[in-house]
Amino acid sequence: MADRTTDRTAASGAGRYPLRNSSDREGTRLKLLEQLSDPATVAGFEALGVGLGWQCAELGAGGGSMVQWLSEHVGGGGSVTAVDRDTTQLRALETAHPNVRLVEGDLCTLALPPDSFDLVHSRSVLMHLECPERVVAEALSALRPGGWVFFEETDGAPAQELADPPRPFAQVMVPIAAPWRFARGLAGLLESLGMTEVRDDVSEYRLVGGTPYAAFWRYTLGSVSEMIRTGGIAEPAFEVALAQMTALLDDPSFSVPFTVRHRVRARRPG
Ligand SMILES: C[S@@+](CC[C@H](N)C(=O)[O-])C[C@H]1O[C@@H](n2cnc3c(N)ncnc32)[C@H](O)[C@@H]1O
Repeated sequence: MADRTTDRTAASGAGRYPLRNSSDREGTRLKLLEQLSDPATVAGFEALGVGLGWQCAELGAGGGSMVQWLSEHVGGGGSVTAVDRDTTQLRALETAHPNVRLVEGDLCTLALPPDSFDLVHSRSVLMHLECPERVVAEALSALRPGGWVFFEETDGAPAQELADPPRPFAQVMVPIAAPWRFARGLAGLLESLGMTEVRDDVSEYRLVGGTPYAAFWRYTLGSVSEMIRTGGIAEPAFEVALAQMTALLDDPSFSVPFTVRHRVRARRPG
């Protein structure tokens, strides 16, 4: 299966996620994100028993490291459907792996084939969408009986709740994390939709200067800076805050609670 489906009707999907995978800079940022995130994701896949013959869907596949991992572990009898509104970073994978199929489209309007998958996975995607409930419902109906969803999504509660945060953190990072509220209710939502074996593994993340996590955010703030300049929406006070926040990310004495990661898995009754 090497055909690529394109949902052009809604492929723009601007929503709340302004970064575009087609730029080289975003390709690099997605690789940094994968280096941080892949070990926990692979551990999650192994815990579910992903193996030969599984039919998988990766929603918001980004740079594609998990598409590649799944493709290699499900083998020729399995498949990986990789969905993203911009599949630029995934095209080489599709060529190299015959069991990978790309679907380019907006998750807020895209229909997945019903009763088709043993696993539907997303990572750092639902948290950015205006329609996460719709995507969850679509993912559940796309599962085969006995199939799994595995969602790894971040919640910005710790940043919001921080008393007396450093000023640049309050000006830059708190507003970035403010919309990330979906993950806290995800396990309850899955239970209410009749899923079984629901489990929510929760990890807290501090933002500590000089760490790989801080380096990812330093790079991301570079993208934010570039975006506001090219968009003609630069504002001097915010640019100062951005520069100060960037400097804090290099400072090992800077350490604040920032996010909570929910790794939620659940099974469709068999
Ligand atoms: C933060 S990246 C995460 C990439 C990948 N899941 C990972 O963790 O390495 C978010 C991804 O979701 C995609 N995305 C954002 N909004 C989308 C939408 N409405 N429909 C489809 N994909 C979307 C982006 O293009 C991007 O590839």
